[in-house]
Amino acid sequence: MATKKISSVMEKALNAQMTQEAWQAQVYLSYAAWAEENHYAGIADFLYKHSHEEREHMFKFIKFILNRGGKVKVEAIKAAPADPKDLGDCLKKLLQHEVENSKLIYTLTDLAHSEKDWPALNFAQWFVKEQVEEETLFSNMLDKYILATTKKEGNANLYDFDRDVANAPQETTIPQEEKF
Ligand code: FEO
Repeated sequence: MATKKISSVMEKALNAQMTQEAWQAQVYLSYAAWAEENHYAGIADFLYKHSHEEREHMFKFIKFILNRGGKVKVEAIKAAPADPKDLGDCLKKLLQHEVENSKLIYTLTDLAHSEKDWPALNFAQWFVKEQVEEETLFSNMLDKYILATTKKEGNANLYDFDRDVANAPQETTIPQEEKF
């Protein structure tokens, strides 16, 4: 058994966040099943994949605890929340889950700093960056949803237009360069 290099307080906090990440996976899994049930195949696929990503986060905690000589405690995961009302509610709630998860990561980061546990701080900082990415991902997705579903300028298809523009090349072919 590896020498224990983390405090008991840190070991408890890391285990708690490990369970939290497992719960996050359940949340995505539940929302993915809801999306599939409601015929949003693309959203469902995205959320199933994201559920796997949350499980990977959970494994990162397991591996780190073990690597630092701590004891992993696998505990019960609370139930996933109720189904969202609609797709907008689904995206809003996912963003909120990520914002709440970020707060827990910040608390963990704070603990690592106060304990001068630099390896734990380094580990937690990976998650600080990850949370910035995840909040941005769902915030952007919610913005796109609002754009796609809010009638502006009499056109609810601005989402498609925006996607086309995002994929548009910076150059175009003029008649003199056309190949026939
Ligand atoms: Fe592991 Fe989406 O937070």
